[in-house]
Amino acid sequence: MKTTPNKFLLLHLTLLFLSSIYFSTSNADDVEFSCNANDKATLLKIRDHFGGPNGRLSDWDNGTDCCSDWSFVGCGKPLPGRITVVTISRGWGLSGTLPAEFGDLPYLNFLSLAEMPKVTGPIPNSFSKLQRLQKLDLGSNSLSGSIPTFLGQLKGLQEFDLSNNKLTGVIPASFGSLPSLSQFNVSFNQLCGAIPTGLSKFAKSSFDHNKCLCGAPLAAC
Ligand SMILES: *[C@@H]1O[C@H](CO)[C@@H](O)[C@H](O)[C@H]1NC(C)=O
Ligand SMILES: *[C@@H]1O[C@H](CO)[C@@H](O)[C@H](O)[C@H]1NC(C)=O
Repeated sequence: MKTTPNKFLLLHLTLLFLSSIYFSTSNADDVEFSCNANDKATLLKIRDHFGGPNGRLSDWDNGTDCCSDWSFVGCGKPLPGRITVVTISRGWGLSGTLPAEFGDLPYLNFLSLAEMPKVTGPIPNSFSKLQRLQKLDLGSNSLSGSIPTFLGQLKGLQEFDLSNNKLTGVIPASFGSLPSLSQFNVSFNQLCGAIPTGLSKFAKSSFDHNKCLCGAPLAAC
């Protein structure tokens, strides 16, 4: 029983020590989770491409945190502060071409820019750098040119929607062997040629309304 007061003292000191650790690291966490400077600079270039600070992306402001304060973007794992999600769609009426700078967001896994008929032109080559991309939705814009072969080489792709654009050419064979692809839609374009065999499991409505696509699930070539 003689040792009891010492035990109490020890307990108090331990608690004091633990709480000081807690309070010093919680500040460090706040800093860690703020927006990565490179990603922020890239997003500001994208904002300027789409009309600058007074345009539709006006809350993309250099003075605020892009992870917590900006519309249409999100940060996430594996690295705190890196942009993983950009989703802008109908109602935000952007116009112009797709900015090549999207290729400079190395942690992007979900990109959606959809239902904006004034978004035109080709899919930039820089999208080949988006090696972590899992979902790409560029549906219902006015994109032209062909579906780039490199998109079919982004091995993590799960969902892919380029429906309702003005795309021409063939569906690159590379799409036929993507291991995780669970949704695919290129309907309502001007595509032609044979559908890669690996894509025949998708519904007819994924391919309907093109110029001359053929092969399962559509009619034989
Ligand atoms: C954003 O702010 C940083 C830090 O104040 C500055 O270095 C950078 O040049 C600014 N970028 C733009 C595009 O204004
Ligand atoms: C593909 O997209 C078109 C037009 O956006 C839609 O009508 C159709 O239901 C979609 N099909 C699938 C399988 O998602």
